[in-house]
Amino acid sequence: MTAPKKLFIKTYGCQMNVYDSERMAEAMGGAGYEQVGRPEEADMILLNTCHIREKAAEKVYSELGRFKGLKAEKPDLKIGVAGCVAQAEGEEIMRRQPLVDLVVGPQAYHRLPEMEARARAGEKALDTDMPEEDKFEHLKSRPKARRGPTAFLTVQEGCDKFCAFCVVPYTRGAEVSRPVDRVLAEARDLVERGVREITLLGQNVNAYHGAGADGDWSLARLIWALNDIDGLERIRFTTSHPNDMSDDLIAAHGDCAKLMPYLHLPVQSGSDRILKRMNRSHTRDSYLRLIERIRAARPDILISGDFIVGFPEETDADFADTIDLIRQVGYGQAFSFKYSTRPGTPAAERAQVDPQLADARLQELQALITEQQRARQDAMVGQTVGVLFEKPGRLPGQMVGKSDHLHALHVDDCPAGVGELRQVRIVSSGPNSLAGVLA
Ligand code: SAH
Ligand code: SF4
Ligand code: F3S
Repeated sequence: MTAPKKLFIKTYGCQMNVYDSERMAEAMGGAGYEQVGRPEEADMILLNTCHIREKAAEKVYSELGRFKGLKAEKPDLKIGVAGCVAQAEGEEIMRRQPLVDLVVGPQAYHRLPEMEARARAGEKALDTDMPEEDKFEHLKSRPKARRGPTAFLTVQEGCDKFCAFCVVPYTRGAEVSRPVDRVLAEARDLVERGVREITLLGQNVNAYHGAGADGDWSLARLIWALNDIDGLERIRFTTSHPNDMSDDLIAAHGDCAKLMPYLHLPVQSGSDRILKRMNRSHTRDSYLRLIERIRAARPDILISGDFIVGFPEETDADFADTIDLIRQVGYGQAFSFKYSTRPGTPAAERAQVDPQLADARLQELQALITEQQRARQDAMVGQTVGVLFEKPGRLPGQMVGKSDHLHALHVDDCPAGVGELRQVRIVSSGPNSLAGVLA
């Protein structure tokens, strides 16, 4: 037997890229590769990239530049770029950085082993096709390795919403849902391998409409079917669009025992004028009413969001509306970004906000979010919640995990092991995590 070749993957961007990197590692496992933790050891380096903001995309080139020395020492080293920058820039990447051997878009990963062989033969291999086939079906995994207690599972990919600032519809393609039986089979397989919590992924995961034996299934129906899998303890999903928050999904948050009380529901702005320019197709008011209905179904649900500040033509009054919306909702967590101009998107053509003004707005917004986050976390003290333990903590005997509401949490002198779900009484709240004792 020949010694396995070594693959180093570095992952940028969202959770879907994390999932994709796992699938690529499995596909390359079939081609005789094992994954390593350092680029210096590798026979092949893959960067799984993100194009969402300019900074993320530019990072790829500085990272590639760092591999020059490695490639000079080891001429057989192959370097590949995967993910959303690969899709957006294609051949241009090889032109700008000639040490790149291979460029593969997010819908062509199943062709990776064959592309690697071409790269080994000295060719430049490029594939940014978006074929109409289930790439995941070609990415069947290697021998069933044991897994940690949590896993991602992509059920939907792509986006048809075309928000005016966003590259995702171009890099991930049109909205596609995976068939129900394949999702359920993958979930059962994960559970057999030790997984206790599954986070369903999609760019618009709540628009899921996968083919079932009796027609298309909604995300809620899929969640109810997952709820029946013995050994699976927790279900989460991300990311949702406000317009696809259907009645059955809202109801599931109240009724489905394994569905966790956490919802990431990006709004981007609190100003109707800006929402319209963003092509978000919901209003401030429809979002607020939606939050009310979700909270009526599940009063303790933790709401998380995404915000963009400094979107073209955003005025002080628009920004004040966003701050006001944040105050009304009360976020348990949020991610906020300064608007970044993306070539090819409609918003790139509009009048840009002064960058210093955008910075100041971002700071103000983030201070408010931090305050809300901390208040929500502090309010957990004294409550008893479920915690799934994920790994030992820094102190001897300590275990760390995530609460039902996705708060990081640790228990000292903890008798529970990795993968155990236990009830924990929360005793204190620190800057980044909660501390508790087994109830
Ligand atoms: N499909 C998801 C996530 C998209 S990307 C959704 O609809 O919410 C994640 C977040 O990045 C977005 O919610 C948005 O807040 C941010 N984002 C996207 N494009 C951006 C841009 N051009 N500049 C700054 N932030 C952006
Ligand atoms: Fe981007 Fe909007 Fe689609 Fe989300 S819904 S991926 S922000 S275009
Ligand atoms: Fe980035 Fe692509 Fe995800 S642009 S956020 S890696 S879908």
